Amino acid sequence: MKRIILIGYMGAGKTTVGKALSKELGIVFYDLDWYIESRMRKSVAQIFAEKGEEGFRRIEYNMLHEVAEFEDVIISCGGGTPCFFDNMDYLNQQGQVVYLKAEPEVLYKHLLMAKVERPLLKGKSREELLMFIREQLERREPFYTKAKYTLDVSLMDNYDKIKISVAKLREMLHI
Ligand code: S3P
Repeated sequence: MKRIILIGYMGAGKTTVGKALSKELGIVFYDLDWYIESRMRKSVAQIFAEKGEEGFRRIEYNMLHEVAEFEDVIISCGGGTPCFFDNMDYLNQQGQVVYLKAEPEVLYKHLLMAKVERPLLKGKSREELLMFIREQLERREPFYTKAKYTLDVSLMDNYDKIKISVAKLREMLHI
């Protein structure tokens, strides 16, 4: 039984790498944010607006406990998932957790190009955004680094590099 779980900061490419790995291995892929949106019939941004971050984290916790019970799946978590409640310990129990690590400047570049609205980043100027990423990443790293595996994806910004990341991941996990 395989359960591969990808974690990391917003913009690290968890969904992109997860989807590519799923395609190669023929294993079903779940993105936790998408799962939340389909179960709640609301976007993550709407949930934040209606229930605040605290309400979102409760829902995220409950949905995580559904998705991480599925077998033979690849799961990509939200950037904040490992940092609340006992989620990180739970993730480590449930599967092979990989931290997709990238430098703040790289995350910043990816997030500037992103199409999906991230409630935590809304309304920030470019300078504020970079500072926010640096500070929040520093606070979150102690959680992320509890993952058994770490893959540096700082250079993953085009299709070839995504393929390389997937190959590295397969080597690392022996899959
Ligand atoms: C969040 C990351 C988002 C989403 C929500 C909160 C975070 O997921 O869960 O907006 O706290 O880092 P992505 O990492 O997929 O953007």
